[in-house]
Amino acid sequence: MPGQDTISKTAIWVAAARAIGAREPDPAVRNPDRLAGALLGDPAQLEGDIPIVEFLAGSYAAAMQEIEVAGTVRAMTERTRFIDQALQRAVADGAVQCLILGAGLDSRAYRCTELLAGRRVYEVDRPVTSEFKQGRVAAALGGAPANLTYVAADLQHETLPDALARHGYDPARRTFVLMEGLTMYVQEQPLRDTFRFLATHAPGSSIVFDFATRAMIDGLGKVDLTKVPPANRPPIERFMNMIRHEPWVFGMPLDGEHEFLAGLGLQLRELLTVGSEESVRRYLTRADGTTLGAEAQARAEALRRLVQERMVATMEPAQREMAETAMREQARQNAYRIAEAVVGS
Ligand SMILES: C[S@@+](CC[C@H](N)C(=O)[O-])C[C@H]1O[C@@H](n2cnc3c(N)ncnc32)[C@H](O)[C@@H]1O
Repeated sequence: MPGQDTISKTAIWVAAARAIGAREPDPAVRNPDRLAGALLGDPAQLEGDIPIVEFLAGSYAAAMQEIEVAGTVRAMTERTRFIDQALQRAVADGAVQCLILGAGLDSRAYRCTELLAGRRVYEVDRPVTSEFKQGRVAAALGGAPANLTYVAADLQHETLPDALARHGYDPARRTFVLMEGLTMYVQEQPLRDTFRFLATHAPGSSIVFDFATRAMIDGLGKVDLTKVPPANRPPIERFMNMIRHEPWVFGMPLDGEHEFLAGLGLQLRELLTVGSEESVRRYLTRADGTTLGAEAQARAEALRRLVQERMVATMEPAQREMAETAMREQARQNAYRIAEAVVGS
């Protein structure tokens, strides 16, 4: 099975986007992950074909002119800040332990030490990536905090309760569970089994997870690079190469979150579409009304409109309206969301 015996490139990709986002001068729209850069270490030592990584070496302002960078930095800033807030709320509400699944280079155990003091933290990841993380933590931070336990497990091949049982984990304790950037990589059955186990946790426990839609997963399976204009090809090619070893396999039916969770014994508490007006207002808007990465974003949007207009230019008005409606629907279907679920009493 690909991806099991190599360090996760997607973990490095998202950490690189956080490291760049953490360099933003304005704290109102900065990524709070101040340890991402240190955990990644020298960019020259990282594999060169991972998206975003090459931009770690250059200036922040220049990197943010690239839509490949600005788009990912924006999404990661929304994601990190949503999750940091959920973690703070969970601790204030009485969570006594924190379970981080698919931890990659997640820095919360090292960055939020005051908040997590006196609470046990478990980081679960595939063995090779967990080992890489532990090496990076030792090199960059001098070691892990005493309240942290690393759990090496592949959730596709071992159940979460079995893996955690080796480390004395107790689901009866009120827990904050984090599945950041994980669901898309796990097949539906093991993912459902994982959620079902999480639903057995102490009432009031909460689970934050992000996910792609089924339409996005289907769309990724149909990407034809020969049909992409040559100028737009390199970033898409880099992304497709990366996920060849870590395929995106799970997608939620659009607007199916409530039903999905209810069927597994969980309640949906909050849902946010990444990149939506609400999310941009909350996490990416400066005091003067401008937004993070706006220039690159505007250029990408103008290009998208141009391509779209060229596509429909020769069509009859009725045909054109149908094509435009189909494109709007496709954009709606391609949602990327983040949610918080809770274990009821
Ligand atoms: C996109 S990265 C996200 C890492 C981290 N949560 C973050 O947001 O920075 C996906 C992570 O999930 C882990 N992962 C993917 N499939 C997994 C599986 N079946 N079992 C355990 N970990 C898995 C990968 O090794 C990788 O660290």
